[in-house]
Amino acid sequence: MSYNRIKQLNEINMPINYKAIIANNVGKYYRLGIKEQDEGSLLKSVISFIRSPLRNYRTYKSLYNFKDIKSEADLERRNVLRALHDVSFEVDSGEVVGFIGHNGAGKSTLLKILCRITDPTFGRVEIRGRISSLLEVGTGFHPELTGRENVYLNGTILGMRKNEIDDRFDEIVEFSGIEKFIETPVKRYSSGMRVRLAFSVAAHLEPEILIVDEVLAVGDIEFQRKCLNKMKEFGGRGRTVLFVSHNMQAITRLCSRVIVLEHGQIVDDGPAEKVVAAYLTSQSGSMAVRQWDRAGEAPGNEVAGLVSISIKNNSGHITEAHDIREPMTVEMQFIVKEPGHVFMPNFHFIDAQGIEAFSTLDIDPKWRNKPRPAGRYSSIVKIPGNLMAEGLYSIRSTLITVNPIKVICNIQNSVSFTVVDSLEGNSARGDFGGRMGGVLRPKLEWETRYEDTLDWPQAEGNGN
Ligand SMILES: Nc1ncnc2c1ncn2[C@@H]1O[C@H](COP(=O)(O)OP(=O)(O)OP(=O)(O)O)[C@@H](O)[C@H]1O
Ligand SMILES: [Mg+2]
Repeated sequence: MSYNRIKQLNEINMPINYKAIIANNVGKYYRLGIKEQDEGSLLKSVISFIRSPLRNYRTYKSLYNFKDIKSEADLERRNVLRALHDVSFEVDSGEVVGFIGHNGAGKSTLLKILCRITDPTFGRVEIRGRISSLLEVGTGFHPELTGRENVYLNGTILGMRKNEIDDRFDEIVEFSGIEKFIETPVKRYSSGMRVRLAFSVAAHLEPEILIVDEVLAVGDIEFQRKCLNKMKEFGGRGRTVLFVSHNMQAITRLCSRVIVLEHGQIVDDGPAEKVVAAYLTSQSGSMAVRQWDRAGEAPGNEVAGLVSISIKNNSGHITEAHDIREPMTVEMQFIVKEPGHVFMPNFHFIDAQGIEAFSTLDIDPKWRNKPRPAGRYSSIVKIPGNLMAEGLYSIRSTLITVNPIKVICNIQNSVSFTVVDSLEGNSARGDFGGRMGGVLRPKLEWETRYEDTLDWPQAEGNGN
């Protein structure tokens, strides 16, 4: 049966919204550190040699049999690693889901189970639809075969006919950008070239489910952008996409839903911006606040000294991750020790490239140009939503006195935060998932008018 025929049948038989993936109590154990035996004497090693097939068989069996693990304590005793534990979730067709979590959290293991590269130790997964995956650089490629041969090999594995692959071949090669090397064996490719071809094949062979693990880290920025756009377009056409990445911007730009894995378990699952924001906050919550508890350590001099700098979200919580659409506040607390000076607290917002996006100083008329009595002060500035572009920012915090200007303290990278863009369509990026440049991302008012119909007079002699 031809590929198109299978596709048509699938499309006829499948309801518009169906569960593409169901994972039920999935667990994966690995047995670690099975050591070589040290035989000691010649006789022992001869006996051991004779017995080794049996021993090897037992060792092999034990790699996949975990009947000896009855409690948590057995895991450590028997040197068994629990890479995944009790993982259950469902993915609807057409959902674009991101998986995030620390190194070793179990993300790749989970994707390998979904692609049936490895079996779960416990539980089961159900998949509806053809899967195309890009798990590790160049998996699914045969090193001795050329790029061209590998494209055909992969297509055939997905159930396509030669003429169907022929139809897509040029597009695949063009997207990959490695036309010159398409007749070269894949073993001669750089890892970047392999990723390019592998992604291109995975995305153009029209699978119903596309699974991509982290590979984007290898390509250059331009290719990463192309891949993200391709995946977004793919999701937009109702295909299911699962995407693992450590790049939170890519995750929020692409995915509507995010699942967080920690020590092999799902610890959060929900709308992308919300989950990513909570994840980033849990990673480095302390970066959103700096506090100097002991007077001796506080930046300053005999005139004044800092107490704290903090960043809060719209609900008043100290947090490191901010929804691009929401306002936030930055607060400087300081103590004036010597009365009679005029103060001017100010903040400088520096992006990840070191560019100062803007600076702001305290212009509250209450204390502007007025000498202050000794005491404790808070200066709070409200930063509107839809102002900064997505990304990481650090704040340089400065406290000065004026008339004459004297710097009391100037702290580089005093606190930092991440702005997370939204996919809901109501931020400045609307429904666009690609890269947007600039350090600012104001949401501006646009107006598009339908001015006229297209029935202009035809030019004479225009044959088209
Ligand atoms: N074949 C294997 N044998 C033994 N242990 C393994 C094997 N594969 C993975 N592990 C272990 O399982 C755990 C989960 O690994 P996994 O590769 O799924 O993590 P990850 O979330 O993808 O991490 P990263 O972000 O670094 O890619 C790790 O502790 C890892 O060492
Ligand atoms: Mg991984």
